Amino acid sequence: MSAAAVWAERQEGRGIPPEILAKARSNPWRHEVGHFTAPEEPHDTPSRAAALALLGDGGTVLDVGCGAGAAAFALVGPLSRVTGADQQQDMLDAFAAAARARGLPHRTVLGRWPDASADAGTADVVVSHHVLHNVVDLPPFLRALTAAAGRGVVVEMMAQHPMAWLDPLWERFHGLHRPPSATTADAVAVLRELGVEPQVQEWERVTPPRHDAAVVTQRLCLPESAVPAVAAALDTLDRPRLAATLSWTA
Ligand SMILES: C[S@@+](CC[C@H](N)C(=O)[O-])C[C@H]1O[C@@H](n2cnc3c(N)ncnc32)[C@H](O)[C@@H]1O
Repeated sequence: MSAAAVWAERQEGRGIPPEILAKARSNPWRHEVGHFTAPEEPHDTPSRAAALALLGDGGTVLDVGCGAGAAAFALVGPLSRVTGADQQQDMLDAFAAAARARGLPHRTVLGRWPDASADAGTADVVVSHHVLHNVVDLPPFLRALTAAAGRGVVVEMMAQHPMAWLDPLWERFHGLHRPPSATTADAVAVLRELGVEPQVQEWERVTPPRHDAAVVTQRLCLPESAVPAVAAALDTLDRPRLAATLSWTA
């Protein structure tokens, strides 16, 4: 099986069966804009260092799946102009507000990558943080990142699907056994299949991604009354911290 097929199969294994999805109060996949605010003082991560190395004295950045722009706004200084592309308008609104607050020339593009790539255009450096695990068909997504970059690409991802640590809760509340998650190694294998040899750095996040009991209850398609039981179950699980930075030149 090709690496791309392995990735797709593992990502499809993250799906929610229709009979469980039918019970959802709201879209369990939707990202909450408030969880992705770009910090005033950026965290000094391997992803930031890789993007700064590509930017050198200065250049433009395209942030794919930008959310509120944590990846791009960590590059303020050498960053001369920024484009944010996202499939959610509320994320783009937060991105534009953050760019205005920093006095940065900016543009936003609403759409799903890679379909949005024509509108997004090109930039010296393309960053895409915590988006790969939203994607099933990875090769077109990755190819379009490379094609949009004048100098190089920096991707950040969790070592496993960011929801994989909740697998015991799917088992407990729905009796649903989930197959193994797609991993950083799986993404690297897809890149190699495309003829790209990325630099890979694995590291630990200072803070794990935000997952409060109310959000997890929604993700699990459970009623609000289940929040206390979910909160108790969450206390028994370790939050994921292992992340990876994949970078390559265009
Ligand atoms: C987990 S958030 C990460 C946001 C931001 N990059 C960060 O690191 O804070 C994922 C973001 O990617 C967006 N997204 C997911 N798949 C996408 C796609 N195929 N095209 C465009 N945006 C996408 C979501 O709407 C969301 O804003």
